[in-house]
Amino acid sequence: MELRLCIVGFGNVGTGFAKILLDKGYNVMGRGIRITAIVDPVKGSVINQRGVDLAKALRLVAETGRLEGYGEGYVDEVDTLEVIKQDLHDVVIELTPTNIETGEPGYSHVKTALETGKHVITTNKGPVALHLYELLSLAGEKDLYLGFEGTVMSGTPLIKTLLYGMDRGLVKKVEGVLNGTTNYILTRMEEGLTYREALEEARLKGYAEADPSMDIDGHDLAAKASILASLIEGRQVTPRMIRRTSLRTYLEEAGYRDGTKYVLSVEPGDYRVEPREYPEGHPLRMLRGVENGVIIETEYLGRIFLSGPGAGREETGYAVLTDLIDLIRRL
Ligand code: HSE
Repeated sequence: MELRLCIVGFGNVGTGFAKILLDKGYNVMGRGIRITAIVDPVKGSVINQRGVDLAKALRLVAETGRLEGYGEGYVDEVDTLEVIKQDLHDVVIELTPTNIETGEPGYSHVKTALETGKHVITTNKGPVALHLYELLSLAGEKDLYLGFEGTVMSGTPLIKTLLYGMDRGLVKKVEGVLNGTTNYILTRMEEGLTYREALEEARLKGYAEADPSMDIDGHDLAAKASILASLIEGRQVTPRMIRRTSLRTYLEEAGYRDGTKYVLSVEPGDYRVEPREYPEGHPLRMLRGVENGVIIETEYLGRIFLSGPGAGREETGYAVLTDLIDLIRRL
């Protein structure tokens, strides 16, 4: 039987995932995939239980920035929660932008989807950083899947490594470069650019969040640190519980020195986001540009070093795909 998906949020990640699904011919692990709705408050929405044509949707968004003109099933304005509640979908793919203060609107989307019996896959850091355990318990009660690989390190499988590769108590520490924008800025500063020039470049290349303060003041890293700390601790750790030093303030006060990386470091009872200097040859110092990397210290296995893309359309779309594979295996 086909798996019916509702995509909420058709921005960078939504379109990246749609492109992957098209490439795969609407088929994952031998299972047919049908998109029953795409909902986006800015671009408009398409709801069609016979299936949304992703090629057409992607073409329209590339050409006009909107889904208007799609034809059958197009709606200018919808109540997203009402669409999520409908019995048209098996899985809700929640890809709206992160708000780490309130978790909204992602939190309500995820909660409503689970309450009305849908599996959920999200790349939105807000609901996971603030309410992971509440949502996991809701999913557990209803025997539903909640995938959130794309919240940290895009499709590079850090979350799956922590969740499935090891028993939680066995992870002693996670330390890593997990914000592509600031690593890009620091790499370019090492090459001689000023902070402002490097930030402008990161913006032009589309790495930075819509509000670059999320990256350079460490809010994005604090959200990621809280997700990783929650997994290691086995209970909710929120972004406010992370000791955060702003990279912008650090550079203004201490200036740039070679080997500086903006990292998160999480171990039981101690969660930080701060600039650190690493010696030459250290694996974190060798990460260039938007590349992410993380050292996981374990009880019996010693150190694991995982590196790969940490942001990007298809890179984060790949995270959704791997969660979908995980879900299909469980079904
Ligand atoms: N702005 C973030 C980064 C996006 O640069 O890493 C991915 O979370």
